[in-house]
Amino acid sequence: MSTKKVNLDKMEQVAVHHIEPHRGLQSAPAERIEGRCTVPGDKSISHRALMLGSLTIGRTRIINLLEGEDVRATAAALRAMGVAIHRDSSAKAGGDWLVDGVGVGGLKSPDDVLDMGNSGTSTRLLMGMLASQPVRAILSGDASLRKRPMGRVIDPLTQMGAVIDAADGGRLPLLIRGTGTALPIDHAPKVASAQVKSAIILAALNAPGTSTICEAQATRDHSERMLKAMGAGIETEEKGAGRIIRITGEIELKPVDITVPGDISSAAFPLVAAAIHPGSELYLEGVGINPLRAGILDALALMGAPVSIQNERMEGGEPVADLLMRGPDHLKAVDLDPALASLMIDEFPVLFVAAAMADGVSRFTGLQELRVKESDRIAAMAAVLSAAGVGVEELPDGLIISGHAGRARPAGGARVQTHLDHRIAMAALVLGSVCAAPLAIDDAAPITTSFPGFVGLMNGLGMKITEVS
Ligand code: S3P
Repeated sequence: MSTKKVNLDKMEQVAVHHIEPHRGLQSAPAERIEGRCTVPGDKSISHRALMLGSLTIGRTRIINLLEGEDVRATAAALRAMGVAIHRDSSAKAGGDWLVDGVGVGGLKSPDDVLDMGNSGTSTRLLMGMLASQPVRAILSGDASLRKRPMGRVIDPLTQMGAVIDAADGGRLPLLIRGTGTALPIDHAPKVASAQVKSAIILAALNAPGTSTICEAQATRDHSERMLKAMGAGIETEEKGAGRIIRITGEIELKPVDITVPGDISSAAFPLVAAAIHPGSELYLEGVGINPLRAGILDALALMGAPVSIQNERMEGGEPVADLLMRGPDHLKAVDLDPALASLMIDEFPVLFVAAAMADGVSRFTGLQELRVKESDRIAAMAAVLSAAGVGVEELPDGLIISGHAGRARPAGGARVQTHLDHRIAMAALVLGSVCAAPLAIDDAAPITTSFPGFVGLMNGLGMKITEVS
């Protein structure tokens, strides 16, 4: 057996250790949330660290990489295209990952279909990487991912010279043939999407000349920050609520050490759990608070549950802080400004749970993008809330939710569907903690997509999540 094989086996053991053992789970009423902890590394930054590390010449060390299923899908795809990625097994390292980059333009065609699992970020960003390299690959994924629209990246990447043959409606599975002679592009994405922006940035890295992306609404800028640190030709300019990003291609990237902060999208679950239990006290250490991700903190403050931001610092080019949440006596209903949507797009399922416990009727609009996430999150959360006994009205682009503050707890006592969506699963479990009777979910397996160890962490803070058959 070769040394490489032995290392791969070790990595798989690490993965198994983190897989949540349950499928059906229920969450019973809890008293309050109390404790101090860290959440796993940021999913968006972890994907980018692996992908951008692969395009450098030399070795990238990634500290605190998220070892969730989505990030594993990215790592497996990059390995299949010739990048050496492994977990550092030296005693001192404690979970660092090492990526030996092949340089911008150095990927090889994979021998087999690339299985992207449940991960839209892996799919769209890898399509960008492949588009401007002379390789071909077939990408597919699970039933949730195969429903998601890829036209938003197919169009600009085709303009740059890639040839993409997708299933009906611009969906997976698809065959992509990249080009060794990509054209630079000027593009204004139709939807506010960091995945679309990053796919174009990744393609532009191997295209001659300067490509320009004009965002009407600024989205998370982790790719831009990491590329600046790696010496790429990338500039950003604020323009009202949006941004212009200019990338000059064919510049060598230098490897850097990347420390991945705790994921604010994962932190949102314990934060909301604390916010809906009066008397709670939660301290989360080392959470990323990039202003283009931290809309959930503004939303919670508007609802009367401000987070105290402590020990603010910069780590790996990203702002990081410790977050203290004290559960208020009651939450206020909110009519949320749709402009916040792109700053907290993944946090809505659990914010809807906060609204279910607020004093009055909350209104969320401008959220049509939630219909094309891992599930249709508007429909899925309307079903979860109403099964639990919360008054909810579904709008084409959002939800109106009647809060229970000052009234009897939501009844609970139901079993809800998670639709292969990790955030629906976790939001429903948080809701169960404030219901009169336990709330069950049909399938907890998707939780490992983004939050390995979720059940243990939440139970350690006072939640009562147990297995059900
Ligand atoms: C992500 C961007 C967002 C987000 C997703 C991660 C990223 O998707 O919902 O979970 O890492 O760039 P969109 O680009 O579709 O908004």
